[in-house]
Amino acid sequence: MIRASGILSLLLVASALGDVIDDFEYLSVGEMCDLLPQETSFLRPSTCDSWVTCAGNYSVLEQGGCAAGLTYNKELGRCAQASGAVCPYTGNIAVQPKNLCANESDGAFVEDPSSSDCRGYVLCRNQRQIKANCPNELIFHPKSRSCVYQNQYECPTSQTKKTSPACRPLSNNTRLADPVHCDQYLECVDEVLHSRSCPVQEAYDADLGVCVPVERVNCYETAALPEPENTFCLDNVTGKARTGYLADDLSCSQYYICGKPIGEKHDTEPKHLSCPQGQYFDFEKLSCRDRLNVRCQLDRCVGTNLTYVNVAGDCQSYGRCSGGITVSLGHCPEGYFFDERNQGCSQTNYHYIACSA
Ligand SMILES: *[C@@H]1O[C@H](CO)[C@@H](O)[C@H](O)[C@H]1NC(C)=O
Ligand SMILES: *[C@@H]1O[C@H](CO)[C@@H](O)[C@H](O)[C@H]1NC(C)=O
Ligand SMILES: *[C@@H]1O[C@H](CO)[C@@H](O)[C@H](O)[C@H]1NC(C)=O
Ligand SMILES: *[C@@H]1O[C@H](CO)[C@@H](O)[C@H](O)[C@H]1NC(C)=O
Ligand SMILES: *[C@@H]1O[C@H](CO)[C@@H](O)[C@H](O)[C@H]1NC(C)=O
Repeated sequence: MIRASGILSLLLVASALGDVIDDFEYLSVGEMCDLLPQETSFLRPSTCDSWVTCAGNYSVLEQGGCAAGLTYNKELGRCAQASGAVCPYTGNIAVQPKNLCANESDGAFVEDPSSSDCRGYVLCRNQRQIKANCPNELIFHPKSRSCVYQNQYECPTSQTKKTSPACRPLSNNTRLADPVHCDQYLECVDEVLHSRSCPVQEAYDADLGVCVPVERVNCYETAALPEPENTFCLDNVTGKARTGYLADDLSCSQYYICGKPIGEKHDTEPKHLSCPQGQYFDFEKLSCRDRLNVRCQLDRCVGTNLTYVNVAGDCQSYGRCSGGITVSLGHCPEGYFFDERNQGCSQTNYHYIACSA
């Protein structure tokens, strides 16, 4: 059973946000419209003859009621003879979902009955419900109350076909913003809520109701874009993966290791490593060495507490450091060479690689 740290760390990012979808029918009409595309029309929850049309670019949110004897047909988007439409709220006035944590101890994990793919679960904290999903590939086992591999528990089809109360007032194929992930959205199909993902580099625009390029997206207020992918190990000229030891363009004492690509995919988690104090990474020797034995074209005051440093390409000059950068350059008298190790000019030329041409 995998009730490991993976889940616990996920919980830290999970939040009670999933609840705005569960409680959709109890939100204010303005809050419902925030989750829906502009100009969406829907049945006002707990009624059969009232409708709401969300604001658009040139229109404000509007609400109305059907003339006597008519009911609102959400699929047609207008009032019609009652015989044609089945009102989802007849004899079935929406009841607030019960608190699954009411009888649970603090820290308990319970099944989320509203999850259509069995990935969802609920963590109880002070009798409050915090919704979360099992990590990729895993699903929640209601008996063991933990995330397990898919071959360890079969998600019942009654669960995968379960209709969602959030879809009751909405017409078929209406989309809702995912309150947590901006690169995903939700869609009601035959009243079952499905989670969908946007294509790569795109995210869901909550106003337009479609996936658009990430640069132009207008996310739902609580939805976040995923962390941008680390492309350090991708050669931006050839488009091929880079592997092995690579320079850090900002510091000679640090370097990266790019792992082998997996399939066509470059390593997105390169290791970023630092040499011990006073050493630079040498790409020929693939090791950390005394900084005087390594050619470094970057500012040699970076990452050191020395006051004076040798200068690349000129063994008679020195740089003065302050606040970790070179603030001025100086020159030794004729016949003298700068020696960083002794912090002064000397008649001996050590021919440090650091300052050799
Ligand atoms: C509102 O304006 C945006 C930008 O001009 C446009 O892309 C969008 O389709 C408009 N929305 C509606 C519902 O007309
Ligand atoms: C909690 O216990 C009470 C009393 O036994 C019961 O009425 C209620 O349905 C229980 N709630 C849940 C979520 O199981
Ligand atoms: C809802 O939409 C889906 C997909 O577009 C379609 O297959 C299904 O028949 C529709 N259901 C109804 C009741 O129209
Ligand atoms: C390509 O990467 C180099 C550093 O690896 C960077 O200096 C350069 O700006 C990048 N070029 C583009 C077009 O992103
Ligand atoms: C510079 O840093 C090294 C290593 O942290 C330390 O041993 C040394 O005392 C420091 N020198 C000065 C002048 O602060």
